[in-house]
Amino acid sequence: MCGIIGYTGKENALQIVLEGLKRLEYRGYDSAGVAYFNKGTIEIKRCRGKIKDLERLFSERPVSNTGIGHTRWATHGRPSEENAHPHRYGRIVLVHNGIIENYLELKRELINKGHAFSSETDTEILCHLIDNHIDNKSLEDAIIEALRPVKGAYAIAVMNELEPEKIVGVRKDCPLIVGLSQNGHFLASDVPAFLHYSRDVIFLDDGEMVILKPDGFRIMNLDGEEVRKSSIHIDWNPVMAEKGGYKHFMLKEIFEQPRAIADTLRGRINPDSGEIAREEFNIEEGILRNTERIMIVACGTSYHAGLAGRYMLEELARIPVEVDIGSEFRYRKPVLEKNTLVIAITQSGETADTIAAIREAKAQELRVLSICNVLGSTAARESDGVFYTHAGPEIGVASTKAFTTQLASLYILSLLLAGLKGSLKHESIKKLISELLEIPHKIESILKHSSTIETIAKQHINRRGFLYLGRGINYPIALEGALKLKEISYIHAEGYPAGEMKHGPIALIDEELPVVVIAPKDELYEKLLSNMQEVKSRGGIIISIVTEGDRNAKELSDYVIEIPPANKYLSTILSVIPLQLLAYYVGVTKGYDVDQPRNLAKSVTVE
Ligand code: AGP
Repeated sequence: MCGIIGYTGKENALQIVLEGLKRLEYRGYDSAGVAYFNKGTIEIKRCRGKIKDLERLFSERPVSNTGIGHTRWATHGRPSEENAHPHRYGRIVLVHNGIIENYLELKRELINKGHAFSSETDTEILCHLIDNHIDNKSLEDAIIEALRPVKGAYAIAVMNELEPEKIVGVRKDCPLIVGLSQNGHFLASDVPAFLHYSRDVIFLDDGEMVILKPDGFRIMNLDGEEVRKSSIHIDWNPVMAEKGGYKHFMLKEIFEQPRAIADTLRGRINPDSGEIAREEFNIEEGILRNTERIMIVACGTSYHAGLAGRYMLEELARIPVEVDIGSEFRYRKPVLEKNTLVIAITQSGETADTIAAIREAKAQELRVLSICNVLGSTAARESDGVFYTHAGPEIGVASTKAFTTQLASLYILSLLLAGLKGSLKHESIKKLISELLEIPHKIESILKHSSTIETIAKQHINRRGFLYLGRGINYPIALEGALKLKEISYIHAEGYPAGEMKHGPIALIDEELPVVVIAPKDELYEKLLSNMQEVKSRGGIIISIVTEGDRNAKELSDYVIEIPPANKYLSTILSVIPLQLLAYYVGVTKGYDVDQPRNLAKSVTVE
């Protein structure tokens, strides 16, 4: 996610804005920029790279009392100076966090009216739209008019060269916070940006606008009506503030998953028409239509997403799928048929083994589609097409929101291919799309019970090991749950197909071994119940993930975590949330650094 900071008041705005951007660096970014009033005009400095590169652009620091700044996490348009914010058109200068869903349509309309654009971003159209309305209007009134046709998520900070000392902010589905102080007022996407200057904040809600001036501020809705909001006092220390008040980035990112999935869906699916935006995969339709086999390559958590994706792609699109670990694929001299589409799944886009697998596929002249979270990463650049998850920067080494957005992406791809291949009727695809849109809300309902999971976790922190069982599409979720526990609590855990237990692992079962069973109501549910009976009859401890209201599984379980009902493909996203929390609370209770576990790196860029 991008970072925004704005200030207007008696202090040195440029200094405050640059400092604020540094406090937002933890969010991850690829370019940065500032805009500030100086002698009646707005000056802009911006660059690809880091804040220190931006600071080098100043031979001296003008004294200004009003300015805005931005750190960019690229979603539309590669990292570059011309795509960096702030953007300007005419008298309007602004910075933006979020995704404008209908920017292509709006851009085409503006071009037809003679507008020219200098960047690849969705953001730039906002400058043009606002400038179109600014004649004899206040900035705030022009913004209200300009935003009417805009669909998507945005938090913006806007300045008008004809109205010095004013900054207008608006939020919709992206955070925007006002900071109050005696010496001026702040606007930011996150509290750390100005915490050093102000602890009295107002969290704007969707559809609200703030007009900041050095001596005061007004808040209104997009109908122009005044809105009264009270400030709250933030007592976080700066380190806590970077984590949004959460104790660890991992916990923050677990709780960000509803937003991460909503952002990943945004602009990709249309529930009314059942259409899927193929152009978001950045790959020719012919390649997808002619795909006869799929080879998924990935590592770690991304590999588990690939294993789950196989069930989605084979059952929904009826295309045979093979899944392999990058480090194995790259050395086994794979025999790949001509119309095989290779899908590389990688959060960082820099995992050496996955990149090597991409290069192996390219060497065999196969087409590669990456599912990646980092725009412009090596994997994205070396693939024929890329579908970006919009999870935002994932700071915690243990992957959480990247995984669930990968699952959502594979689900969308499966439905796109099902439509192209004719394996599903349009009505079925439309229904499956509408079920996907319910997932962010269903995750929220699971997260509300995190304390129940914490209580369960605390009772098992000294176990010698855990067994995670799942069947069908939930077997990869069992693997993922086991990996989460292993990598942050250092307790051995193994994911296993539940049907395989009696071929060996059942020997492990005793009253000391917690067995986590993923048992949502699906066509294999009855089989899972008998596996649970096998565990129970040997004294094993059962922690089960079950569909809300399921009494049968409850009677067999020592601990039960309920998830809302969903189709079996989407149930994977819901089932993994409790497993992420279970691992997190075990690791934290054991006193480990769950954000940076021992021996691990966030991105394994070497073999
Ligand atoms: C997952 O929690 C781990 N951090 C690790 O397995 C990770 O998924 C793996 O290294 C792959 O990373 P990538 O998705 O960036 O390629």
